[in-house]
Amino acid sequence: MKNEEQTKEEILKIKKDLGNKLLILTHQYQRKEIVDVGNFCGDSFALSQKAANDQNAKFIVFCGVHFMAESASILSNEGQIVQIPDTNAGCWMADMADVYMVEKVWDELKRFVPEDSIMPVLYINSDAQIKAFCGKKGGTICTSSNANAAIKWGLSLREKVLFLPDQHLGRNTAIAMGIQPEEIILWKYDKPLGGNTENDIKKAKIILWDGYCLVHTRFKVEHITEARKKYPDSKIVVHPECPIELVKEADAVGSTSFIVKYVENAKPGSTIIIGTEINLIQRLKIENPDKNIIELHHSLCPNMYKINLENLLMVIENIGKINVVDVPYDLKIDAKKALDRMLKISP
Ligand code: 13P
Ligand code: SF4
Repeated sequence: MKNEEQTKEEILKIKKDLGNKLLILTHQYQRKEIVDVGNFCGDSFALSQKAANDQNAKFIVFCGVHFMAESASILSNEGQIVQIPDTNAGCWMADMADVYMVEKVWDELKRFVPEDSIMPVLYINSDAQIKAFCGKKGGTICTSSNANAAIKWGLSLREKVLFLPDQHLGRNTAIAMGIQPEEIILWKYDKPLGGNTENDIKKAKIILWDGYCLVHTRFKVEHITEARKKYPDSKIVVHPECPIELVKEADAVGSTSFIVKYVENAKPGSTIIIGTEINLIQRLKIENPDKNIIELHHSLCPNMYKINLENLLMVIENIGKINVVDVPYDLKIDAKKALDRMLKISP
């Protein structure tokens, strides 16, 4: 069995041999050894941009979860091949909505309000079929870094936004934009009318899907209370997939790249407490030895963690051949419309 160093060396050797034919993209939640061997590390938005813009790479190996690799595949150019080191690296939140559920809710909403008054704004954490549905309905995809601009765009064109699947990102963004709580409704899939009245639906500006991330809903207000007591001079920054009670108590909220910049821009000696996935926080601790970086609570995404040096090596040893992420042509066309809109709505 190879040790970590040997595996790393083999990856770097194949990477050198393939030169700019290979692009290894790594999400901010990947562990340090993966980020170290990659070409580019970023949040979902930056990684989508990179996949869309790279013309040289014949092979894109995506170290992240499946919907991210799928989005890269939809955005890639003809002839480019996208692979993922572990095809089982899914996303719990993305699994909380499928296209049949979404179509059912859409049809139900149409009974009370005109179809052309609803704009779907879809968080990128979703599968290709829902992305295609969103594209067909004239909607956009967003990430946590441009959700604000995406909702604004949606409301400038239609009266209501159906935001899915993350209720927390949708609510946090809408409230920060000044939308009133009574104009925001939650659609509970298993309840008649999503648990709302006909009047609630007619009045609503934002209709939220009842999805969430189990990694980000582990953080509690008590964690902030304890942290403030222990580190009174600290700043607390959280990801917008956290519930609103937490976001209200934090000093700042933003995407993974926002969190990275927040730490980089902080003064040496400052204490920053972070509410997001633990692997990013652990890397930030190493990369910012002049700052005191602390996790609000230890919360790991087991899906992101499925990617390791061994399966990354296996994929690049079989470049273009195994764990290929492809999307059927008809879905790709519609999903790409929604992803292209997302890339135009800058954070
Ligand atoms: P970012 O858009 O901040 O990269 O987050 C993606 C994600 O899945 C967070 O849980
Ligand atoms: Fe999905 Fe949550 Fe993991 Fe992000 S952290 S990939 S939303 S399960």
